[in-house]
Amino acid sequence: MNTATFRFSTDILRRLGEELITSFDQGIIELVKNSYDADASVCSVQLIDTEKAGGTAVIVDDGHGMSSRDIQDGWLVLGRSRKIPGSRTQLDRLPAGSKGLGRLGALRMGQEVVLTTQPQDEPGVDYSLRIRWADFANSDVVENVGLAVKRSESEPRPGTRVEIRGLDAAASEREVRRLARELLLLTDPFGDPAGFRTELVAPAFEDLEELVNRAYFDDCQFRLAGC
Ligand SMILES: Nc1ncnc2c1ncn2[C@@H]1O[C@H](COP(=O)(O)OP(=O)(O)OP(=O)(O)O)[C@@H](O)[C@H]1O
Ligand SMILES: [Mg+2]
Repeated sequence: MNTATFRFSTDILRRLGEELITSFDQGIIELVKNSYDADASVCSVQLIDTEKAGGTAVIVDDGHGMSSRDIQDGWLVLGRSRKIPGSRTQLDRLPAGSKGLGRLGALRMGQEVVLTTQPQDEPGVDYSLRIRWADFANSDVVENVGLAVKRSESEPRPGTRVEIRGLDAAASEREVRRLARELLLLTDPFGDPAGFRTELVAPAFEDLEELVNRAYFDDCQFRLAGC
């Protein structure tokens, strides 16, 4: 007996990516939520030349990172979340992502993605992966495009960096403003050691950078706690 399997046309990847992410800020936030879920204490979003098409967005965190196996069995598996509903992370956080496929849309906002990650339990070992979406456009089925996961030695600093290069469109001021607001909402206002902080590096929008980087309770004198 011959066994057969479903295979996916690369066009499905393109269409899912386009249909799932409706705005720049929504795409970036999807990746920031993954940093939160990875128990990062800080996630920095850098927007480089995004006032025009072709820019770069970088999302860097100091979370638990991914092993080569996590990349293969988690990050590269689309449309499935390994998170158990209602479960908590090691830092007792309730996972924040919403729809598994959102990440694909985010990664597809540009021509190329470079993932670099260092797993917490392999200090000094980086894994990196480069995705060029054009390779998929030139292939019939998704499985025919091989992705090399490279291992290298570096500083012992766990975390993950996702770089989306060659953005298809400029990020509008409205989108960056919305992104700043959403980043602020994800930031723990009280500086709890187990808390989560976001940073925005967007030289074209200094006022928004400052809004996120100062967070809202910098100026407060009193804090009301409920129990
Ligand atoms: N920044 C990161 N640090 C460590 N692991 C990550 C990071 N981003 C993604 N991952 C891993 O990749 C997996 C897939 O991420 P994806 O966003 O597609 O799904 P999810 O976060 O599990 O689900 P959802 O987004 O629906 O909540 C995650 O479960 C996690 O194991
Ligand atoms: Mg997610």
